[in-house]
Amino acid sequence: MTGDPFDEVTAAVRDRVRPGDDERERMRAAVAELRARAQAAIADLAVDADVVQVGSTARGTWIAGDRDIDLFVRFPADLSRERLEEYGLAVGHAVLPEGREEYAEHPYVVGEYEGFGVDCVPCYRLDSATDIQSAVDRTPFHTQYLESRLDADLADEVRLCKQFLKGVGAYGSDLRTRGFSGYLTELLVVEYGSFRALIEAAADDWHPPVRFDPEAHGTVEFQDPLVVVDPTDPERNVAAVCSAENVARVQHYARDLLADPRESLFVPDPPAPLSPEDVRERVAARATTPVAVRFDAPDVVEDQLYPQLRKSLAGVRDELDRRGFDPLRTAAFADDDAVLFAELEVAERPTVERHEGPPVHVRDHAEGFFEKYADGRSSSNPGTQSQDAADPDVYGPFLDGDRYVVERDREFRTAEAFVRSDALFDVSLGAHVESSLESGYDVLVGEAVAELADEFGAELADYFDPGP
Ligand code: UTP
Ligand code: MN
Repeated sequence: MTGDPFDEVTAAVRDRVRPGDDERERMRAAVAELRARAQAAIADLAVDADVVQVGSTARGTWIAGDRDIDLFVRFPADLSRERLEEYGLAVGHAVLPEGREEYAEHPYVVGEYEGFGVDCVPCYRLDSATDIQSAVDRTPFHTQYLESRLDADLADEVRLCKQFLKGVGAYGSDLRTRGFSGYLTELLVVEYGSFRALIEAAADDWHPPVRFDPEAHGTVEFQDPLVVVDPTDPERNVAAVCSAENVARVQHYARDLLADPRESLFVPDPPAPLSPEDVRERVAARATTPVAVRFDAPDVVEDQLYPQLRKSLAGVRDELDRRGFDPLRTAAFADDDAVLFAELEVAERPTVERHEGPPVHVRDHAEGFFEKYADGRSSSNPGTQSQDAADPDVYGPFLDGDRYVVERDREFRTAEAFVRSDALFDVSLGAHVESSLESGYDVLVGEAVAELADEFGAELADYFDPGP
């Protein structure tokens, strides 16, 4: 008798992602040493503080080999922000002498110790997560909440679930991914009691908006596709950044996993990058008109960059649509350069465009429209054109049904002409994207976009061979 294929596959993945005794022991020793360093540094300060370990390595839910130690140094709530930052960095540098400073809500120190990535983050010690002054203050409450609800079996289920989310590309609460955070994954697994129950529900029962409120204390109507009211803060949705697309992605692959259980769904599988020649072939075969605007990627963190690229791309897409170029699909890429990419169905529009006026019976508006456009033609003789008939500014106004209509010259006959013009800056762009574009950009059209493959071959592979 053979076992259940779902159970066999998930048992194998569970074993693969569970940290071994050796890794756990090295983790424990590393945390003890780092904690001791932090406590020694705190003893030199004129303030009382304590050290808490948070995140997945505190809760035993980290994936084997994928180890970051998150140490939070908690200061009294009445300490000024300046002092908190000063003391936080002092402790951070004592814990990680080779570390470097990064900036989230406060500056903090990141570094490495014995092969572990370490974040040493200052925060305030509060009585309740609802009093927080910044998002990091909430983090110790998450660990406290989950500690009593996770056991070794559920930790196995959490790791399995994280690995699945990584495999399908939906893990991570950064604003590039807009997926499932570690904490969200843990809350969902606790809610359902097992990975399988969660997957079955996602496959069969989820009709977004999907809402959970583990402590039944939520006070806010969130508009997000997935809502998990934070057990430590009734006003926060833990899944706030999770996009509709990532919810749908999890539903799709949940069904796929149930229908055909296989380990490959737990392994990220980035496509082979396309070469310039590959891109030329795809463009020729699709017979579309791709247009790329390439500029220096703004020097901001990814959590700022990607929202700005998305906003800019949406603005450009809408304007291309409005101007008649029918975008089929668009994408934004970023590395050293950034690219706004639009694949268009229409390469070139005619010289004229139709412009509808009001119905004639709406007297004020109708007369205003008529007079505005009638200026371009002789008034005395209705039906005759006074200008050179080969090149009028305006055809009409004429009647179409009860309306005045004109046909006039369009501003841009090609998308290329539009993106090369200053009209590009009338689109609402992300602030840093706009300033980078102001200092210059290239425009690539048609098969010329093939040259993007040198920098963005993987992104173009995703683009031209899309999947869920
Ligand atoms: P991490 O991003 O390190 O997540 O944030 P994690 O839970 O440890 O998961 P992995 O295994 O490293 O991927 C550390 C803690 O910060 C809080 C959570 O409490 C999390 O456990 N956090 C982080 C959030 O509340 N929201 C976020 O978007 C990110
Ligand atoms: Mn972590």
